Amino acid sequence: MNIVILAAGKGKRMHSDLPKVLHPLAGRPLLAHVIDTARSLSPSRLVVVVGHGAQQVRTAVAADDVAFAEQTEQLGTGHAVMQALPLLDPAQPTLVLYGDVPLTTPAALAGLVAAAGAERFGILTVEMSDPTGYGRIVRDAAGSIVRIVEQKDASEAERAIGEINTGIIVCPTGHLQRWLATLGNDNAQGEYYLTDTVARAAADGVEIVSAQPAALWETLGVNSKVQLAELERIHQRNLAQRLLEAGVTLLDPARIDVRGELSCGRDVVIDVGCVFEGRVHLGDGVQVGAHCVIRDSVVDAGARLQPFCHLEGAHVGPAGRIGPYARLRPGAELGEDVHIGNFVEVKNSRIAAHSKANHLAYVGDATVGSRVNIGAGTITCNYDGVNKHRTVIEDDVFIGSDTQLVAPVTIRRGATIGAGTTLTKEAPADKLTLSRAKQMTLDAWQRPVKLPKP
Ligand code: UD1
Ligand code: CA
Repeated sequence: MNIVILAAGKGKRMHSDLPKVLHPLAGRPLLAHVIDTARSLSPSRLVVVVGHGAQQVRTAVAADDVAFAEQTEQLGTGHAVMQALPLLDPAQPTLVLYGDVPLTTPAALAGLVAAAGAERFGILTVEMSDPTGYGRIVRDAAGSIVRIVEQKDASEAERAIGEINTGIIVCPTGHLQRWLATLGNDNAQGEYYLTDTVARAAADGVEIVSAQPAALWETLGVNSKVQLAELERIHQRNLAQRLLEAGVTLLDPARIDVRGELSCGRDVVIDVGCVFEGRVHLGDGVQVGAHCVIRDSVVDAGARLQPFCHLEGAHVGPAGRIGPYARLRPGAELGEDVHIGNFVEVKNSRIAAHSKANHLAYVGDATVGSRVNIGAGTITCNYDGVNKHRTVIEDDVFIGSDTQLVAPVTIRRGATIGAGTTLTKEAPADKLTLSRAKQMTLDAWQRPVKLPKP
């Protein structure tokens, strides 16, 4: 089968410089969703018709299996499909999709394609209580489809028809080629209508069949930010439904956003307001507190993220305790039962099992052993303004509060670092190391008193 995706339109009502089909839904361009759906049908040719912002659109969705046809002037949907014809296999039927209709399911398309077979003309239609704006499906007394009439060209009686053209059609390519060549633009919009091929099919005695999607939202398109926001909610509701069906507990399925792939083990609990981006895996029994943002990360079984954590490119080991208000940046690799508390930032650092940094710390470019305690206000000074250096903290180290570890520096196993230390040299194993000005008390000192006004 050939698939043609129409994506040349400008999207004036988006009021945006970004081509309409590149506006993101669940973090990815609308057109990328349509291309994914198209791929699920394993087409032999996949052609995207580009026009407005052609170069930008090509770059955004470029792939080995995607070909592009350019429609320099938007003269109508029929004209758009015509631009793709030279790239199609005439021996296979052609399915036409829209780059701004992102939520059609593979099942709906497969149903349409199966109904049409190799010889029939297939149209995906739906019944609408308010069909305003859409092309209406006109049937004869026997119930056979004979043509499609656009809203602007329709008579009063035709406008009363509730069955509409979703725009998605499938048709034998040889016929399509012939019919498109005969199209005129003598209509209310002065456009070459793809929908006019339906009447041509009827005249040629080609059978026209219809199929319906399981849900109306599958056929909704995006023409404005309002519609984009509506489809985003529908999509997120569907994703939440899938998570619930797979056994994930969502404290409110209306308050989760998944912009990528979220996979979950058993007995995962997700509180409200969380955002998942890229590829995220949550192991068995993981609990995610309210308002966490997690991107491209893995959280192992039994770990618990308290509210307001931000994770990116991080790995939380089994039974970890993270947050509230923790930030794990790329390369944060935490072992089993590691505790990262409030206002602690970890970047490009490996922290081994049972170690803790519970309050107000920065751990960057560090290798931290097991059972290490990193006190409040500890900072790895990893950056000298030019280069980054590593800090090595071996097993069973205890670091007192408000300590600066000036990298490159190593703390040997079992060492204790006194509070307030600025560590610039290696700290030996099992000893107390500290750098601290001696405490003193001035007995003769007195508080100043306020002078009387002159
Ligand atoms: C079209 C159908 C209408 C159907 C409706 C469903 C025609 C003539 N009408 O109307 O029956 O009910 O979709 O939404 O087909 N495009 C191009 N190049 C063009 C024109 C359009 O690529 O020259 C693309 C647009 O970017 C859009 C899609 O084709 O993605 C549909 O075009 P649009 O102008 O929105 O068609 P409608 O008037 O809504
Ligand atoms: Ca439209």
